[in-house]
Amino acid sequence: MSIQEARSRAIGEALDDIRAIEAANGVNRDSLEQIKQRLIRLGQQRDLFPDEDFPLAPEHNGEFFDVLSVDDDGRFELYIEVADQTVDVPPHDHTTWAVVVGIEGNELNRLYDADPEGGTPPTLREEVHVGPGTGVAMMPEDFHSIHMAEGERNMHLHLYGLCFAKLKDRTLYDKETGAYRQFDVALD
Ligand SMILES: [Fe+2]
Repeated sequence: MSIQEARSRAIGEALDDIRAIEAANGVNRDSLEQIKQRLIRLGQQRDLFPDEDFPLAPEHNGEFFDVLSVDDDGRFELYIEVADQTVDVPPHDHTTWAVVVGIEGNELNRLYDADPEGGTPPTLREEVHVGPGTGVAMMPEDFHSIHMAEGERNMHLHLYGLCFAKLKDRTLYDKETGAYRQFDVALD
């Protein structure tokens, strides 16, 4: 079996398990923790994600996302993110559940208590360094920001309960304006 075939099989098996976890337990912190642990196991299979299969090209400007799998109905969208530049994504929600786990490198996830309705700025609750063997899981309303350093190759898996194309009215906090605003474009 080629690495590509082995990767496809491993991804399929992980997503089968994850669909079953969600079907049996619904979407809550406990089920997302189980999903996170299952995705961590996939990310730890380093050999399945060789650098040459996910090369950073000049046109990527130091970061790209590749969809590894998405269900026909748009559910369970799995991305691989590769980056070697400085990445600072502002605090945002997803309106669907989200799990990030490491393959290589270190993606700093800052988790916030946020109150878009009240308009008060997000308050840092926790910092999680996501690398091999670690991950972070978020409910649809949770806010996080993402930070990566230049010069370090980062490979991470991002799994969303629903694909980006179907997400509506996501919210981010804009530090420049000191206000929350809606956005619909892809933003981790
Ligand atoms: Fe995100």
